[in-house]
Amino acid sequence: MRNLCLLGLAISLASPSVWAQTPTAPLPPKDVFVADLMKQMTEAEKIGQLRLISIATDMPRELIRKEIAAGHIGGTFNSVTRDENRPMQDAAMRSRLKIPMFFAYDVIHGHRTIFPISLGLAASWDMDAIAQSGRVSAQEASADGIDMTFAPMVDIARDPRWGRTSEGFGEDTYLVSRIADVMVKAYQGLSPALPGNIMASVKHFALYGAVEGGRDYNIVDMSPTRMFQDYLPPYHAAIKAGAGGVMVALNSINGVPATSNMWLMQDLLRKDWGFKGVAISDHGAIIELIKHGVAKDNREAAKLAIKAGIDMSMNDKAYGEELPGLLKSGEVPQSDLDNAVREVLGAKYDMGLFADPYLRIGKAEDDPADTNAENRLHRQEARDVARKSLVLLKNNNQTLPLKKQTRIALVGPLANSKVDMLGSWSGAGVPAQSVTVYEGLQKAMGQQGSVTYARGANISDDPKIAEYLNHINTGGIDVNNDPRPAQTMIDEAVKAAQHADVVVAVVGESRGMSHESSSRTSLDIPDSQRALISALKATGKPLVLVLMNGRPLSIEQEQAHADAVLETWFSGTEGGNAIADVLFGDYNPSGKLPITFPRSVGQIPSYYSHLSIGRPFTPGKPGNYTSQYFDAENSPLYPFGYGLSYTDFSLSPFTLSSKTLKPGGTLTASVTVKNTGKRDGETVVQLYLRDVTASMARPVKELKNFEKVMLKAGEQKVVRFTLSEDDLKFYNAQLKYAAEPGEFDVQIGLDSQNVQQNSFELL
Ligand code: NOJ
Repeated sequence: MRNLCLLGLAISLASPSVWAQTPTAPLPPKDVFVADLMKQMTEAEKIGQLRLISIATDMPRELIRKEIAAGHIGGTFNSVTRDENRPMQDAAMRSRLKIPMFFAYDVIHGHRTIFPISLGLAASWDMDAIAQSGRVSAQEASADGIDMTFAPMVDIARDPRWGRTSEGFGEDTYLVSRIADVMVKAYQGLSPALPGNIMASVKHFALYGAVEGGRDYNIVDMSPTRMFQDYLPPYHAAIKAGAGGVMVALNSINGVPATSNMWLMQDLLRKDWGFKGVAISDHGAIIELIKHGVAKDNREAAKLAIKAGIDMSMNDKAYGEELPGLLKSGEVPQSDLDNAVREVLGAKYDMGLFADPYLRIGKAEDDPADTNAENRLHRQEARDVARKSLVLLKNNNQTLPLKKQTRIALVGPLANSKVDMLGSWSGAGVPAQSVTVYEGLQKAMGQQGSVTYARGANISDDPKIAEYLNHINTGGIDVNNDPRPAQTMIDEAVKAAQHADVVVAVVGESRGMSHESSSRTSLDIPDSQRALISALKATGKPLVLVLMNGRPLSIEQEQAHADAVLETWFSGTEGGNAIADVLFGDYNPSGKLPITFPRSVGQIPSYYSHLSIGRPFTPGKPGNYTSQYFDAENSPLYPFGYGLSYTDFSLSPFTLSSKTLKPGGTLTASVTVKNTGKRDGETVVQLYLRDVTASMARPVKELKNFEKVMLKAGEQKVVRFTLSEDDLKFYNAQLKYAAEPGEFDVQIGLDSQNVQQNSFELL
């Protein structure tokens, strides 16, 4: 975060306004300015401001421009260059009141330069690295004339069947909330009104990650305590960090769709949290109120949504077509319309667009000749962040790092896939610019060793899956299956393995498998690739699995076959180089899982911070009537917070500065972390708390703080965590947020499972 200001201002401030009457004179304060403008607006112009149109829809551009010039559109999304946006802003400048448009886009984990998917960013546990990805995204998007991103996506995900698990930052409330804060500040910088910064629109409000069965768009049914305790804080953190926008979720919450949910949108968001920005529906969500079964037609849907406080309607016709009649009949009072318009204009003011509508679009003569030019990318930053996101899950007998003089058999359908390296939601990223594992290894090794590549298997042999994956990717073919028989491909890979010193198998999911609408009933690696892994194991050669995936996978068998396992998510434009850095030990892996890896899909939900229960699992006699599955182990495959390094770290017994904590006071937990191995490296010291006895069951542990520490070989450092009453507060059964006196356990470890414990009492 250190360089936010400098980075923000690094982009040229010189883009003279053609709109403002006196460019140098500051505008009146927002409320005065907006109120004055609204006095001049007709009802049709007001309604127009509430329409957010997708450029990718079938409305021709010419018609869009005509509509803008007539004052009938407030903003668009899905255009990604200055010269696409400029004619639309020009059209707005021809409109009666010259109200500028804003241009939004899904800048989720990078823009032209793609960073690791959000789940991978979270795995870095490195707030500076995450901020870096956000800053670069903002700069690149701003330089392409984009004013707002539909991000950060901070939906807590505890059911990895949900394909959008990849888009969020994992299962943990504290970690996701910290990242929400960092991301909003990184996108918006000192102010979203400055060029180089863009406005953040946090999503999906609310609880979208808890869709029943992990099936996308399904209902959410959740107790209020769980909402407030676990799922809502990340959105709140983003809003407290100043997010100018909120995108409203597609799901219902306890029967009431978020899009028509007065409690959610009015009581919680506006009144309790004091949100003053713009609330945007998700794509077509207003009309979907009919399918939810709470509106009988578009008219009623529009009425419900505007009453709930949805300011902008994303890509559906409901507001444009229905609000005139609803206002005329008095079913929607003028004040509802005005409230929505005020927020839209306020957001435009905050984005700096009234001061200069061309703030980010700039002048035509300054447009880049090639928007995808290499010199517009931030490769070094992407490589740096990507290697921090990789998680070493297993490393028997120091299989890794590899020597560069090695003969490597590189196999797997993902080993040389440029498109998959980018992950989902990487719309402005160019696959041809991404570095595959094959390319990364070759480059790192030069003439020193050799890489023999054999595909070995298709992503899946099920033609329906390939068809599905190619269908959801509107940009082109995502999965290009090799037509050879599966056994021929395996034989070829086995032959390569037999002639190699080590096998590196890049396996997992294609990017479309972890995407919107891509929910799965299984967390397995597809059978085609499992058969490949078994055949490789049978060669007896050391086997390194490089996983690419956007959700935890159930890899109990595959990891047992492997000598080493590296989780790489979808690591972005520089993924192949970053993975090579780790495989060869040019970077010592330091990532930690931001989400639990279950042994099987049947263990879901498998998050670590579950509430205490009356009969917790106690190993012992079979059928001992404690909470377990009798047909599998109870523990996860890899716990939350887990990740290895090429060096070893030890933690000293930790001390608490006091055995009691007075309300209003603080207490310090101190622990010495030592690098006991032979390489320099980083680890994450994690602090968890447990409220032992309270008025209601509390989590067995909850992350409350962490520190990522860099230590040279042999070096040690004391890490101190300060605890205050605030860290002990929770929402009780009456939704009162308070700490209750009594005993608390403090647990400190390098993952969530392997911890040491001390306790204190809150007086
Ligand atoms: C629908 C998705 O749910 C949302 O996350 C995204 O921002 C919009 N489409 C716009 O692309």
